[in-house]
Amino acid sequence: MSLRVSVIGTGYLGATHAACMAELGFQVIGLDVDREKLEALAEGILPFHEPGLPELLKKHVASGQLRFTDSYAEVAQAADIHFITVGTPQRTDSTSADMSYVDGSVDSLLEHITGQALIVGKSTVPVGTARRLSERIAEKALPGSKISLAWNPEFLREGFAVKDTLTPDRLVYGVQNDEDLALIRQVYASILARKTPEVVTDLETSELVKVAANAFLATKISFINAFAEVTETVGGDIATLADAIGYDDRIGRRFLNAGVGFGGGCLPKDIRALQARVSELGLSHTMGFLAEVDQINLRRRDRVVSLTETMLDYSVEGKKVCVLGVTFKPNSDDVRDSPALDIAVRLYNSGADVSVYDPQGNENARRRFPRLNYVGSWREAAAEADVVLLLTEWDEFRVLEPHDLAPLVRQQQLIDGRNVLSRSLWREAGWKITGPGERFEVPSPDLDTRTLGILQVPGAQT
Ligand code: UDX
Repeated sequence: MSLRVSVIGTGYLGATHAACMAELGFQVIGLDVDREKLEALAEGILPFHEPGLPELLKKHVASGQLRFTDSYAEVAQAADIHFITVGTPQRTDSTSADMSYVDGSVDSLLEHITGQALIVGKSTVPVGTARRLSERIAEKALPGSKISLAWNPEFLREGFAVKDTLTPDRLVYGVQNDEDLALIRQVYASILARKTPEVVTDLETSELVKVAANAFLATKISFINAFAEVTETVGGDIATLADAIGYDDRIGRRFLNAGVGFGGGCLPKDIRALQARVSELGLSHTMGFLAEVDQINLRRRDRVVSLTETMLDYSVEGKKVCVLGVTFKPNSDDVRDSPALDIAVRLYNSGADVSVYDPQGNENARRRFPRLNYVGSWREAAAEADVVLLLTEWDEFRVLEPHDLAPLVRQQQLIDGRNVLSRSLWREAGWKITGPGERFEVPSPDLDTRTLGILQVPGAQT
């Protein structure tokens, strides 16, 4: 008999996983506590932007392969393998992960599963969670039931969620016995048949793989951004530096783009939760460098705010700032922990008149911060601008040319926060342009030359 699959929690990860499990040929039931969300999902309407996912949802709801419910009783009856994909957001009272959704969903399943079942955690969790949940299962499972637990982290990127799920670069699972392994291999049989690397390990390693991967990526970005602080001070070209070290296979060029830093729903929260977890384990110094990674990352935002203030003659009050891009990265509508939104809000709070245009993110940003002036095109955002800030590298901004913006703006000043525009092209057209990693000379009445990199890089004085 074909495996029946449930997916508990239909957020980013869960909605994608459910649709992809159906695409792999399984009967899938997705559970969420939010009825409205379920009704929308059943029609392929997502509360977030993810290319290809609405089509996949519609296709499999129509074929009957995928359905949704808010009933744990129904899910317990309808599936043999239950994927836990609920969120583990940062707690409001600390930097630890909030485990209440994971714990709550496992408890709810345990109340209803009467036969044999495998629960597979996919949520990003503090190491030790799976072991703790296994004990909880042993304690709380209904008499007569036989329930096991495995962990199977997910590495999907927003904007590529379907592709990353259907053609992952590796599959990782922490299992406790051969029977569970056989079941998980059945789920991923078609992916494994393509010789996708498979890592079979214990529960703790599987949990750590996920946080280690995200901590490494965050560190790589902050590493190049730390060098950006250096080139901002002494001169040099940060992109060339990244290219040159990136040719070394051991280093690699990806995730070495200096800019406004990382944001989103994963990297910032995961490095903080990892530090909190290792501190709980009595290893507070072990991940101390991640505090520095976080600080370097946050200083990138300070730098863009400082550059903007400098370009606006140290007074942003009443000046018109055009912000291009407000999501944490392109091809997403996600503004969680977005450096771009943070910068826009800080300038607004200093008195600037901030106009924002993002191809997908305006609505989410407006919900979080309604007071910025959200407009429907880069042309509107740039109208009468004293400075243009390119903060998220959407394709439509990468191809902008000086003559596109020149007739619109009040002053030809641009901060390219993602280093995607040609400096020479814009300078030749008469623009003042700078960006992360670049030494920016500011003429001042008091000093012969003020170099922002020297005077204002936070931390440079220590
Ligand atoms: C990340 C991981 O990549 C993924 O494997 C994990 O499952 C979830 O977290 P995501 O949050 O979708 O995925 O974003 P990602 O593409 O990794 O980008 C993260 C942030 O880093 C973005 O804000 C991006 O703009 C920034 N970034 C990325 C840089 O600043 N420089 C780079 O060179 C690369």
